[in-house]
Amino acid sequence: MQRFMITGGYRLAGTVKVSGSKNATLPIMAASLLLDEKCILRGVPRLRDVEVMRDLLVYLGASVIWEKDVMYIDTQGVGYQDVSEELMRRMRASNLVLGPLISRYRFARISYPGGCDIGSRPMNLHLKGMQAMGVGIKEKFGYITAETEKLKGSEIYLDLPSVGATENIMMAAVLAEGKTVIRNAAREPEIVDLQNFLNCIGARVKGAGTDTIKVVGVDGLNGTDYTVIPDRIEAGTHMVAAAITRGDVVVTNVIPEHLEPVINKLREAGVYVEVKDEQVRVSMDKKPKAIDIKTMPYPGFPTDMQPQFMALTTLAEGTSIISETIFENRYKHVMELRRMGADIRLEGHTAVVKGVPGISGTLVEASDLRAGAALVLAAMASENGTVVDKVDHIDRGYERLENKYNALGARIIRVHN
Ligand code: UD1
Repeated sequence: MQRFMITGGYRLAGTVKVSGSKNATLPIMAASLLLDEKCILRGVPRLRDVEVMRDLLVYLGASVIWEKDVMYIDTQGVGYQDVSEELMRRMRASNLVLGPLISRYRFARISYPGGCDIGSRPMNLHLKGMQAMGVGIKEKFGYITAETEKLKGSEIYLDLPSVGATENIMMAAVLAEGKTVIRNAAREPEIVDLQNFLNCIGARVKGAGTDTIKVVGVDGLNGTDYTVIPDRIEAGTHMVAAAITRGDVVVTNVIPEHLEPVINKLREAGVYVEVKDEQVRVSMDKKPKAIDIKTMPYPGFPTDMQPQFMALTTLAEGTSIISETIFENRYKHVMELRRMGADIRLEGHTAVVKGVPGISGTLVEASDLRAGAALVLAAMASENGTVVDKVDHIDRGYERLENKYNALGARIIRVHN
């Protein structure tokens, strides 16, 4: 495991460019399994999770060439639909291959996936959707086997708007017979991006971005050249980094509409945010005001930004209330922030954060991706040095975060143990 040594107290200033979206890239790479042709993806971020999905495609028989942010995927050689436990354990999003494999081959076998340690994260909704399409599901010894002779379109109601279940069912429906309607679908921008990709390869998908998605099954698909959207969570993280260090940062390659809840909460905290076409400028010269946050499915406040905002509120004027409604266990950063001097009390799914005048560096541990990012932000705002351990978690979702922040004036050294 690697660690960051961070010297706090430096204001971030300058311009930072956001990479392509991790959570859009992963389902789109999985969707390439629907094809019996080549496709080109652009704007692919250099992330550990993307490497895992690349390894997964290669394991299944695809050929993948990845040069800078362009990925050339050829899925003609795929002949295997049984995914190793090792690959599944490395990343929860590996489960996104289930939908495309069942659509193309009518068979798939995967082990229960791993991923961030932020809650139980079941797959019941993914499986319920596939069963409604006529897929037989067997769960045994930690493996899920999905099989059908006839994959047929169906009406599916999701009990809650799960992002992964929406994506998996959309992909399963692409080569099914007839029409599939997904109700109470998740509305995240990454789902719209998946729809756009699917339509580029010849699928017939409508409604992503609303709570009803309709997919009409087709017989054949074609290759494409597609650019993924920028990462709204990376953008949001940089915006909080600017605010917490009382800096002045222009964040480029963003789609501001995707950032509305983040922009609104920053403004509520007294942060100056200026929005232009594809960039936002964030500046701050005082203590933030306390704010209340409740995580919700899109277009609500994203759970993936909760830890970073908690870091900001530790230094606010007054008491902030943060409620996590998506993942029951997403408070691992609380203990670490407390070690840095934050005043946070947990009451069930709610965190009561009483702003303190300052926080100080110590040895802390990144328990998951966004918790790790929150610790980096807190460390940059702290009064002295901090060691953030296990930054491999951060590398799952941020492309060399230390280089981006050092270019803005931070002092972060990566140490290889
Ligand atoms: C995706 C994102 C992740 C983000 C999350 C919520 C990717 C690769 N990851 O994860 O970064 O934090 O959305 O915005 O896009 N649930 C069930 N049954 C299911 C599926 C989910 O009960 O079958 C529950 C989960 O336990 C969780 C909630 O639904 O409480 C939301 O999960 P979901 O939207 O599925 O998240 P992911 O797709 O795993």
